[in-house]
Amino acid sequence: MLFAYRQHPRSRFFLLRFDGAQPREWLRRVLTDVTSGDEDQGGQYRFNVAFSARGLAGLGLDNEDLRTFQREFVQGMTHPERSHVLGDRYSDSPESWEWGNEAAPVDAVAMLYAGSDGELDARSVELERSFEKFGIAARAEDVALAEGGREHFGFTDGLAQPFIRGSGRKRRPGEAKIATGELVLGYENAYGKVNEVPSAKRRRGTREHPDFTSSSMERVRLGHNGTYLVLRKLQQDVAGFWHYCWEAARAEGALDLAARAKLIASRMFGRWPNGVPLVESPDAERPPRAGLDEFGFRERDPDGLRCPFGAHIRRANPRDMFGETAKEGLRDANLHRLVRRGRAYGPRLLGDMPQRDDGAKRGLYFLALNADLRRQFEFVQQTWLNSCKFAGLSDERDPIVGKDAVDEDDQLVPRPFTVQARPVRQRYPNVPKVVHVRGGEYFFLPGMRALNYLCEGTD
Ligand code: HEM
Repeated sequence: MLFAYRQHPRSRFFLLRFDGAQPREWLRRVLTDVTSGDEDQGGQYRFNVAFSARGLAGLGLDNEDLRTFQREFVQGMTHPERSHVLGDRYSDSPESWEWGNEAAPVDAVAMLYAGSDGELDARSVELERSFEKFGIAARAEDVALAEGGREHFGFTDGLAQPFIRGSGRKRRPGEAKIATGELVLGYENAYGKVNEVPSAKRRRGTREHPDFTSSSMERVRLGHNGTYLVLRKLQQDVAGFWHYCWEAARAEGALDLAARAKLIASRMFGRWPNGVPLVESPDAERPPRAGLDEFGFRERDPDGLRCPFGAHIRRANPRDMFGETAKEGLRDANLHRLVRRGRAYGPRLLGDMPQRDDGAKRGLYFLALNADLRRQFEFVQQTWLNSCKFAGLSDERDPIVGKDAVDEDDQLVPRPFTVQARPVRQRYPNVPKVVHVRGGEYFFLPGMRALNYLCEGTD
């Protein structure tokens, strides 16, 4: 939650299955390796572990305990209600996923971060031995901090993040101050409320269990200092994306094809590849300056003439755009913030704005943290990214991550993207779907005391 582990660019995510295994014994074995929020950057590897609802059941939580967690989490990402909300249908349907669905459920994700490949491999060997010893099945996925900070399409990623009050970190220019309880369970949220956190029955013999709930000495506040983690494997069709942009530039009769293709792509993101926001620089990729996150839409660009309304960053966080005043707009938008810690998988497709595919699989392990799956992650995905009426637009969705578009007969139809312009707007009629969901699940990332509780004591 607190660190992006930038000193630990190499990483491996192990998707775990507990069936017939001894997960509590395993957790006890690895507990001292878990990185807590107290530790600062530098030094050795980093290690975190989070559990799905199924995984918590495997660790001994019963239905009464599980019911105290958010409904979305308990249902799991592939429950039909969640698929409906997330738009996981057609080409993104969970049946086609590699993991997280009925055919390949996941109980936990163990995330290992290292400074080098050597360190990653050495530590992985030890971890894999521990999985084997306690009968846990693991699927390893290699992920890395995007090269040069750029995701596979070539755009600087991980720029805009909320600033968590009380985190002890220094606030960067432009970062919105977000109440601790928006991102960590058990603290005051944006409504000035401390919500009841998930709880579990007291266990005897735990060394450092969480505090008791206010109403009962028989239950402990398992959720305190924890949060929900969204993990989605998003496959990216890099050549398909750039091919479309080059072709669109050609169709417009652009003289400088490369410059035009880059502009079209940047309009879809709302930032240039180097991270400079289009609101600041709508026509050319100027050198970045400090404070790349310090901008609003209302004053500089009320009509979307600099950064299109439908651009990925404008949809994902409309900032001050809606509401009676800028302040009100920002306050409302900040009810839906996420901490993003995504990492890339697969080899880079070589070349600048490459159009030719090499057949390799690549993409983003999208990882987001928030205290309220429904109001934060799902809201962003459903009401902003996938809404075809966002900001007065009609029948289009996020050009990068938007879901498939279908007609009344459930047939796939073209996905347009609009660029506001004077005297007339410009319409890109047939934007290909270049991001596909390949796996995903909701997890609970426990605080240290909760981890202790989960692997110790007796009922
Ligand atoms: C393969 C898929 C994706 C790619 C390539 C991608 C890429 C990017 C890039 C390049 C930025 C701008 C730089 C930055 O502020 O970090 C960005 C911003 C952002 N993205 Fe994505 N993204 C993807 C999926 C998603 C999804 C699924 C969500 C949420 C459900 C999301 C939410 C956001 C948010 C909240 C921002 C920050 C907006 C702001 O505050 O300005 N992204 N993304």
